[in-house]
Amino acid sequence: MAGYHVVLVHFPIALWMTATLAILYRSMSDGPLALSIDRALVPLLSAGLVFGLAAYGVGLSVWPIETITTSPLGRNHVMLATWTTAYWALLLVLRWKRGAAIWQGMMRWVSAGLALLGGCLLGITGTLGGHLIGVYTEVSQVLRAIGWEVYTTFYVPNPVLIAIGLASLILAGIGLFGGSRHTNRPV
Ligand code: HEM
Repeated sequence: MAGYHVVLVHFPIALWMTATLAILYRSMSDGPLALSIDRALVPLLSAGLVFGLAAYGVGLSVWPIETITTSPLGRNHVMLATWTTAYWALLLVLRWKRGAAIWQGMMRWVSAGLALLGGCLLGITGTLGGHLIGVYTEVSQVLRAIGWEVYTTFYVPNPVLIAIGLASLILAGIGLFGGSRHTNRPV
């Protein structure tokens, strides 16, 4: 199945990279082209998710899960692939449910930041996949420079995990509280 995974991954990579550029463009422009691109965003993100899930599923069948999770590089690739797929699914839900509201005021810059982060996660997933197959890029040098050696298991210290958990709870609380005060959401 390795050949199928290598072929399939190009679809979500192309679709999500295009989505990154589309979101960046829309967050910087209200022109007719940007509005047209925005109308294509939900179908684009949906296609990205379908192909992403397909690449993920086929990826799981390249090697037995016990085998790929034996090496730190394999574990890192699976972990980043999981984050990337879940993250882009969330961006789809965000654009779908919140509609044009994600381009209003400060939200357009939040959307641009979310797209950049999604593009980075995708790039790292692909980079780690490349290392698995023996195709290296300079992205891993950048990751090394900021303190993560891709051949070692990515780990987050417990205090950082607790801080992330607390921040998530606070943000969810702000979202719920803010949401209950805005009943007429634009679509
Ligand atoms: C959306 C999710 C994923 C993306 C974008 C992705 C991306 C990639 C990329 C770009 C490569 C290198 C292909 C090449 O250089 O031509 C690769 C290789 C690989 N990936 Fe993934 N991957 C994903 C999910 C997974 C998952 C979930 C697994 C396993 C549980 C996996 C296992 C592998 C393996 C084993 C290789 C090496 C293939 C070989 O040895 O021939 N991938 N992946």
